[in-house]
Order: sequence, then C-alpha cells, then structure tokens
Amino acid sequence: MSVKPSTDPKADFGSRLGIYLDRLGAALDRALPPAAQDPTRLHEAMRYACEGGKRLRALLVYAAGETLGADPARLDAPACAVELIHAYSLVHDDLPAMDDDDLRRGRPTVHKAYDEAMGILVGDALQTLAFDVIAHAEMLGTAQRVHMLGLLARASGSLGMVGGQVVDIESEGRTLSLERLQSLHARKTGALIRASLQLGGVAANADAQAAAALERYGELIGLAFQIQDDVLDETASTEALGKTAGKDLAQHKSTYPALLGLDGARRRAEALFDEARAAVLGLPGGGAPLAWLVSFIQQRTH
Ligand code: IPE
Ligand code: IPE
Ligand code: MG
Ligand code: MG
Ligand code: MG
Repeated sequence: MSVKPSTDPKADFGSRLGIYLDRLGAALDRALPPAAQDPTRLHEAMRYACEGGKRLRALLVYAAGETLGADPARLDAPACAVELIHAYSLVHDDLPAMDDDDLRRGRPTVHKAYDEAMGILVGDALQTLAFDVIAHAEMLGTAQRVHMLGLLARASGSLGMVGGQVVDIESEGRTLSLERLQSLHARKTGALIRASLQLGGVAANADAQAAAALERYGELIGLAFQIQDDVLDETASTEALGKTAGKDLAQHKSTYPALLGLDGARRRAEALFDEARAAVLGLPGGGAPLAWLVSFIQQRTH
C-alpha cells in the first residue's frame, strides 16, 4: 500500500506510520532469536516468515493505543505479538494440507523455501513466541499482560482464527448462507484483527465504553478486510498480490464474491468501512488514527 501525502487532517496518523513500522521492526528483531542461534535453520526460517507484509494488525494496535493516549513503548509487545500470530497463521494457511500455496509476500512460502516439517514447526514456534513476548513485556503491568494473553489466546484458537480456518476448509465446494460465511470470515480473519484493537485498548487502560467501540470497529474492519481479500483474489494479479491470484475459485472456496458477486461484495465492504468510521467517532479526537486507517485499508491493492 502506498501512503499518499494528503492535506486531509486525518493524514496525521499516516505521517507517523514510518515511526510505528520501525518500532515494530525493532520489536520483532528483539523477539526473534538470532538466525545464528541453534537450531539455526529454524530461527532463520522464523525470521523469513516475519519479513514483509503490510503490518496492518500491528498498526491497529498502535492506532488504538495512540487514540487513547498510550505510551508507544507499551504498544510494542502487543503489536509484535499480533504480527507473530498472523505470520504463523499464514505459514500454516499455505501448507499443502491447507491452501497449498507456493508464493507469499512475493517470495516462496516457508514450506517451499525450506520444507514442510519446517513450515509446521516455524508456525508452532511463532505462535508460542507471541505469548512469550507479552508474558515478558516489562513495560506492561501484570494484570495487563494476563488480560492480553487471554484476549490473544481466545482470538487465535478454536473459537477464533483456527476455528475459522477449519470452517473455511469444510466449506470448500459448498454454498454457505450469508450468515454462515460472515461467521467464517469473522473468525478466520476478524478475530485477530479485533484482538489487535482490544490489545491497544488494554495497553491504554481503556474504559468499558472505549473498549466496546474498539471491539466494534475491529469486528467491522475485520470482516471488510477478508471481503477485500476475496475480491482481490479474483481481480488483482499475482504480481500485485505477492501471492497466487485466482486461488479461491480454483479451490472452490466460500467467498463473498461467490455469494454476492464482485460488486455486491465491494458494496458490502464499503458499508462496513463506513460503519467502522462511525463506531469510533465517540473516542477522543473522533478516533482520527483509526478513521485514517479505514481509508488506508480501503485503498489497498494487495
Ligand atoms: C492475509 O493477510 C491473510 C488474511 C487474513 C486475509 P494480510 O493481507 O494482512 O497479509 P500481509 O501480512 O500483508 O502479508
Ligand atoms: C487466511 O485466509 C486467513 C488466515 C487465518 C491466514 P486466506 O487463505 O484467504 O488468506 P490468503 O489469501 O492465503 O492470504
Ligand atoms: Mg486459507
Ligand atoms: Mg490462503
Ligand atoms: Mg485469500
């Protein structure tokens, strides 16, 4: 995604994007064992899996925290943790037993660059590292860490992302009701995106009202983000996506375009983005960083 210079006041968060991406890069580098550390092949592959990507989930943590006045130093651990879980989910999603993809972020997938066992084990190690990072985050209080660990575990497991992935696989070749498809997307992609907002809120000690607004915003953009992913799978090129285009049709996946058509899916995503902007209007400053991110996501081409 390119960041367009803008005179729009909402561009404020955009001007700090580089700072946050640098913070995240440093946090990941601290968290991941050095590639030279035994077992070197595993640690090298873990780092490989964490390179590239839009870093959207981390940016959501920073934007939620910034909106509620959190010190960025308290946001680094949760931002790093959500990207580690996300990277693990992609490595496993690409495995032959799942979506069987050769290309990710413009490069060979982990099981292609290394091997299948390494794909499984890299995912396992990235997942546990995410919880390690939060458990050992010195900038956070004990209660905050426990709260974050619970949120991240719930969002990642069988009631969240993993559960959604199972329904995704079970739904291949079937026509789901819109309600069932929404529930699938809310779990496989929405849960971790919603958790990213919640973690930013916990770091900022959000009150119940602010936490509810962040949660709602997360649900809305989480669903919209996966709808966009489905649309882009059909409309963008492999080169632009950095992953093989047209896979959903080939694998008979249950997607929004399959159910509503491309235009119907696009309209649904736009309506959700509008709702998301409205959901954060009551936050300090009208939730400007979060509103800025909505526009940023709306414009994405990969
Ligand atoms: C891809 O996520 C998988 C989905 C959940 C849709 P992203 O589009 O955020 O992937 P990266 O991190 O930018 O590569
Ligand atoms: C993956 O959804 C969601 C995850 C939990 C990783 P997709 O299978 O549509 O993601 P891509 O298109 O491979 O990135
Ligand atoms: Mg998949
Ligand atoms: Mg996939
Ligand atoms: Mg996809």
